Amino acid sequence: MITLKTIPVVEKLKIGIPGFDQISHGGLPKDRTTLVSGTSGSAKTVFAVQFLASGIQQADQHGVFVTFEESPRDICQNMLGFNWNIQEWEKQGKWAFVDASPQVGEETIVAGKFDLGALLARIKHAVQKVNASRISLDSLGAIFTKFNDSNTIRRELFRIATALKAMGLTAIMTAERTQEYGEVSRFGVEEFVADNVIVLRNVLDEENRRRTMEVLRFRGTSHQKGEMPFTIVPGHGIIMIPLSAIEIKQTSSSTRVTSGSPELDRMCGGAFIAIQFSSYPGPPAPVRR
Ligand SMILES: Nc1ncnc2c1ncn2[C@@H]1O[C@H](COP(=O)(O)OP(=O)(O)O)[C@@H](O)[C@H]1O
Ligand SMILES: [Mg+2]
Repeated sequence: MITLKTIPVVEKLKIGIPGFDQISHGGLPKDRTTLVSGTSGSAKTVFAVQFLASGIQQADQHGVFVTFEESPRDICQNMLGFNWNIQEWEKQGKWAFVDASPQVGEETIVAGKFDLGALLARIKHAVQKVNASRISLDSLGAIFTKFNDSNTIRRELFRIATALKAMGLTAIMTAERTQEYGEVSRFGVEEFVADNVIVLRNVLDEENRRRTMEVLRFRGTSHQKGEMPFTIVPGHGIIMIPLSAIEIKQTSSSTRVTSGSPELDRMCGGAFIAIQFSSYPGPPAPVRR
């Protein structure tokens, strides 16, 4: 019998996003499924790849990427800009694709007849092949356009999530949203199946694009509340923006460095004031709306 004493607390996994540890209080809940929801272009695919890349690079944990939208070739090519050499990881047996993207000449699948059982069998095979402990499914929307009622979608999603859990995997499922604020996901049921929900936003704010991440729910464990800004950096991936720490550090320096021009130094009260940034100053500040 399982007693309260024998149930461990929810462990968390680091996912290689600088600043994510602070907003998630230690990382992504281990052995559970997290839904990452966002509009088109909100960085769902980058998030899903970064999760597996950090596992390989920082924790020697292997991953499976199930793609419903882009072809494996396109993903490999797009992610080279972040220095993630997926093809190399495939050769080393650290990464496996399950290609469920639309194939040229594929017959249109009749609503309700999509065979999730066959897909689950392919996922199991890939997981065993690379001994995976992490999995990303990107993006769910593409398969669920094939079902036309929310009960079927909920039931099939539950089947996937249960199978992933039984395989002992920590999973990310991405889902499409049509608006930045409002329903969490397009079909309105995806968030009820996952243990955890993260929303990515890409909002037009006074003619500037503002990217934010919000942890909406982590079942059984804590997290920071509210929208946190982030940016996408070539060569690195997603990085949270630590606004509050930058603001504090900017006023704390009294070191002066010469500008090279005695006249300019005099106008600045002796010389320029040096502002020192550490490589990562600290936790991000919530976005005020
Ligand atoms: N290789 C890359 N280098 C730099 N930025 C990239 C790269 N790939 C994607 N991005 C940026 O990330 C954004 C989100 O991409 P993506 O994750 O594909 O969005 P989604 O999957 O939510 O539709 C792109 O619009 C682009 O600005
Ligand atoms: Mg995508």
